[in-house]
Amino acid sequence: MKRLAGKSALVTGSARGIGRAFAEAYVAEGATVAIADIDLERATSTAEDLGANAYAVALDVTDQASIDAAVAAVRKRAGGIDILVNNAAIFDLSPFVDISRESYARVFQINVEGTLFMMQAVARSMIARGKGGRIINMASQAGRRGEPLVAVYCASKAAVISLTQSAGLDLIRHGINVNAIAPGVVDGEHWDGVDALFARHENRPLGEKKRLVGEAVPFGRMGTAADLTGMAIFLAGPESEYVVAQTYNVDGGNWMS
Ligand SMILES: NC(=O)c1ccc[n+]([C@@H]2O[C@H](COP(=O)([O-])OP(=O)(O)OC[C@H]3O[C@@H](n4cnc5c(N)ncnc54)[C@H](O)[C@@H]3O)[C@@H](O)[C@H]2O)c1
Repeated sequence: MKRLAGKSALVTGSARGIGRAFAEAYVAEGATVAIADIDLERATSTAEDLGANAYAVALDVTDQASIDAAVAAVRKRAGGIDILVNNAAIFDLSPFVDISRESYARVFQINVEGTLFMMQAVARSMIARGKGGRIINMASQAGRRGEPLVAVYCASKAAVISLTQSAGLDLIRHGINVNAIAPGVVDGEHWDGVDALFARHENRPLGEKKRLVGEAVPFGRMGTAADLTGMAIFLAGPESEYVVAQTYNVDGGNWMS
C-alpha cells in the first residue's frame, strides 16, 4: 500500500530543487501534488515531468490574493489539501554592516511571512474540511545558529522553527500536525547561487565553498534532495501522527540538537 494514497498535497517552491524532489516522492507514494511556484513556466514543465498526478499552480507566497487563489485552485482540483509543504524560500548573504533593508524585507517576506500566511490559509481550509492534515515547513541548520555573513537568512529560518512550534501547538487540536525539516547543505541550483555569493564575498574560486562545506559534513559529503525525501514522506504519512511541533535535522550529522 502506498503511504500517501489518495492524499492531496501542495508543495510551495516545487518547480525545482528540494520541493521538486518532495513532489516526485509524494506522487510515487500515491498523492496528487500541486506544484506551486512563482515560476509558473518551470512549475508547468515539472508537473509534466511528474505525470498525471502532478499539476502546476501559480503561487507567490508574498501575496495574500495569490495564496488564497492557490488554495482555492487545489480545493477545486483535488477537493482540499491534506499535506502542505512550505518549501519556497530565498537566500542572501552580506557582511553584517552592509545588510540592506531591501534584502531583509525580501528574505523575511518570502521565508517567514510566506510560511506563516501559507500555514494560516491552509490551516483554515483544513479546519473547515474537518479531516486534519499535515504541514511541513522547511527550516535549515541556518536556523539553529548564526553565521557571520548570513544573519538575515539564519534569522528567517530561526523564525520558521519558532513558527513551527507555535502553530504546531495551536493546530494539533484540529488534528493538524505541524513539523519542520532542517537540512544542512544540499547540492543543487540553490547552492550554486550560494557558492557564487561566497566566492564574491570571501574571494574564493567558484566551487571551493561547496567543496569545503561538503568535506565538513560528518557523513562526508553535501546532501542531495533525495536524502530528505524519507523524512518528508514520514512527516506527511500515518506513522508521524504523534509527532507535533518538532524540527528534524536531516544534515549528515552537522547539528546535534
Ligand atoms: N539547498 C540547501 O542547501 C538548503 C539547506 C537548508 C534549507 N534549505 C531550504 O529548503 C528549501 C528548498 O531549497 P532549494 O535548495 O530547493 O531552493 P531553490 O532555490 O532551488 O528552490 C526554491 C523555489 O522557490 C521558488 N520561489 C521563490 N520565491 C517564491 C515565491 N515568492 N513564491 C513561490 N515560490 C517561490 C523558486 O522559484 C524555486 O522554485 C528552502 O526553504 C531552503 O531555504 C535548503
